[in-house]
Amino acid sequence: MLPKDSIVPLDSLRRLIVERADPVGGRCRYVAELRERRVAGPVLVAQPGDRIRTVIENRLPQPTTVHFHGLTLSETQDGAGFEPILPGESKALEFRVRNRAGLYWLHPHPHGFTAEQVHAGLVSLLVITDDEDAALDEALALAPGNRLALALADARVSNGIVRPYAPSAHDCLHGWFGNRALVNDALDARLPVAPGWVRLQLLNACNARGLLLAFRDGTTTVPFHLLGTDSGLLGAPVALDRVFLYSAERVDVAVDVSGRRELAAVSLAFDPRHQAHGAGIVHRHPARDGFPALAADTVCSQPTAGSRGEALPDGAELPLFTLDVGGATRGTPPSLPARLSDLAEAVVAADAPSRMLRLDFDEKRGFLIDGTPYSAEEIAFSVNRGAREVWEVRNSPISMPHPLHLHGFGFRVLRRRGTFGPARGLATESSGRLPTDLGIKDTVVVWPNETIWLAVDFSLPPDAAFHGRQRYMFHCHNLEHEDGMMMRNFSVL
Ligand code: C2O
Ligand code: CU
Ligand code: CU
Repeated sequence: MLPKDSIVPLDSLRRLIVERADPVGGRCRYVAELRERRVAGPVLVAQPGDRIRTVIENRLPQPTTVHFHGLTLSETQDGAGFEPILPGESKALEFRVRNRAGLYWLHPHPHGFTAEQVHAGLVSLLVITDDEDAALDEALALAPGNRLALALADARVSNGIVRPYAPSAHDCLHGWFGNRALVNDALDARLPVAPGWVRLQLLNACNARGLLLAFRDGTTTVPFHLLGTDSGLLGAPVALDRVFLYSAERVDVAVDVSGRRELAAVSLAFDPRHQAHGAGIVHRHPARDGFPALAADTVCSQPTAGSRGEALPDGAELPLFTLDVGGATRGTPPSLPARLSDLAEAVVAADAPSRMLRLDFDEKRGFLIDGTPYSAEEIAFSVNRGAREVWEVRNSPISMPHPLHLHGFGFRVLRRRGTFGPARGLATESSGRLPTDLGIKDTVVVWPNETIWLAVDFSLPPDAAFHGRQRYMFHCHNLEHEDGMMMRNFSVL
């Protein structure tokens, strides 16, 4: 979970400061304040049952929130955009961790500012561990340093400098794509590991780019094993040579680096099937009025593709990071355990109520859910606590991949239909599911022309009754789409 000095136990966090570290370029960072020290860019660690009791302090010139992506929390704890923290203000935060071991993350969620603030570097990882998780590390005989939690982002870099976020109309429609990877905020990341198994928990923290992750030693593709997804371990590992990871999705993988000097992680070239083309939509966020951009450039106001110069298109090959293998060889690493967790297949009652969502494209208004632009006041629907529903999510044929994210509750992927393009070849089951569909998810990519069925479980642990109505949201996690109104609220009664 490199670097070691950035690891902060969640329950020791006294204050979380959101600050703009570089007013000219607009780069921002989280600073964890502990009793005796301050840590920039913290990686938080916790176990189920741990408590966080802290204060979030907003030192940005814009409203912000801290959203705990993937956690089961109440409306106020969740940090969605309902209660933005204004510049100079603070918010007290307290909750208990109830989720399975896995990689979760924190990022801003103030409507209209989310894409800009996440792109500015406001991403922090939260690694939850438990007994199953620790048993796996032991079974892999991981050398110290061979377990890493990495946020993979992309940015437009020229002369070694990350250019400020200033999307054109084209970027607002397709998403903001960079030309270089930033791994835990570093360019050209090289991570030292020892021979044997390496366990990587990876987050796609890109605003919009889909990653097709693979490992290479020179020109040879090195296979790996999928251990887990968004909310923790799969029942059993799956051997793979590539895996899709869209914005906000996570994978947990094991790769054996024995006998190698280095191993490169890359995003392979693929056809992302961006088939929608609009006249150019410039988002106007009333929420932004009266607040400056984080950097000198303005946001979503350039009618032409002027700032696109250095973007690599979605689906272009992109080097991500390199594992530098050093130290003594330790013999053959142990074989992977056949079972990783007691996660079973989702069981769906025959009479489970179903709900249909459409991911639409409109040439004038861009991408929307059910043709309805986001409104903070609107509630798309309400569900009862404990309800179990089947969601049928349909992406139109003229579209692009949309990573759909649900706040507050995990779900299981039951089935995919109509999958074309590069995802199709990865389906391993008659249900059309991909290997990453086998775990508990909070974000799932829906390809153009696809219909996917999800089993959504709105039950809460008994100690998390969260009295009264709780509002949450679901949205596309392409952040330009999210800020561009591809989001809706729902409430739990
Ligand atoms: Cu990762 Cu609604 O967000
Ligand atoms: Cu979220
Ligand atoms: Cu989208």
